[in-house]
Amino acid sequence: MSRTHLVIAIDGPAGAGKGTMARRLADHFHLNLLDTGLTYRAVAHRMLAYGLPLDNVSAAETAARQIDLATLDREVLSAHAVGEAASQVAVIPGVRRALVEKQRDFAKAAPGAVLDGRDIGTVVLPDADVKLYVTASAPVRATRRLREIEQRGGHADYGQILADIEKRDARDMGRADSPLRPAADAHLLDTSEMDIEAAFRAAVSLVEKALAARQD
Ligand code: C5P
Repeated sequence: MSRTHLVIAIDGPAGAGKGTMARRLADHFHLNLLDTGLTYRAVAHRMLAYGLPLDNVSAAETAARQIDLATLDREVLSAHAVGEAASQVAVIPGVRRALVEKQRDFAKAAPGAVLDGRDIGTVVLPDADVKLYVTASAPVRATRRLREIEQRGGHADYGQILADIEKRDARDMGRADSPLRPAADAHLLDTSEMDIEAAFRAAVSLVEKALAARQD
């Protein structure tokens, strides 16, 4: 890998702000960006579109092998039901193997990349230059989600959102293959008390420190 190739791994639970963080870091350091959640969502979306049960392992593995990272449509994949289904197909080891291979290839392309997900620092890119674990308490994440929905003119029930978040956390943290957890060398950014701007500034300075250490 060239001296200028830079790879940043961002993990954390749903709604902690890691997507915004990933986008801002990719813009700031001029890197490619991959939201790996979309790859699991794309598999789930295909299964739902064909009316296939989410625990049909061989169909899910075939769908995962066919996913093309260049055609992921955030608009279509952002539906709540797709996210819920994604966390169900994400427990299938063959699905993970197929998607992780594509995610690693993405990270290899010049000039480097920011990948965000659940297992980027632990499994997908254990040698990433910088690893961040962006988190926030479940009630803070539920409040943010509720505000987003209301700002778009929608209505939702706080208790229901919180219950959904807790269920998804439990599934993502409790699964046997690649559970959500911070890598031993990840920097923890808790956005419960810190706003995203402060978290972003902290992340930029961690990346700059890693780049400076490389020059030595
Ligand atoms: O981040 P997002 O909500 O789009 O992810 C949807 C689901 O995909 C997560 O709940 C998780 O189960 C799964 N996922 C994963 N590993 C990743 C990214 C997402 O298991 N690297």
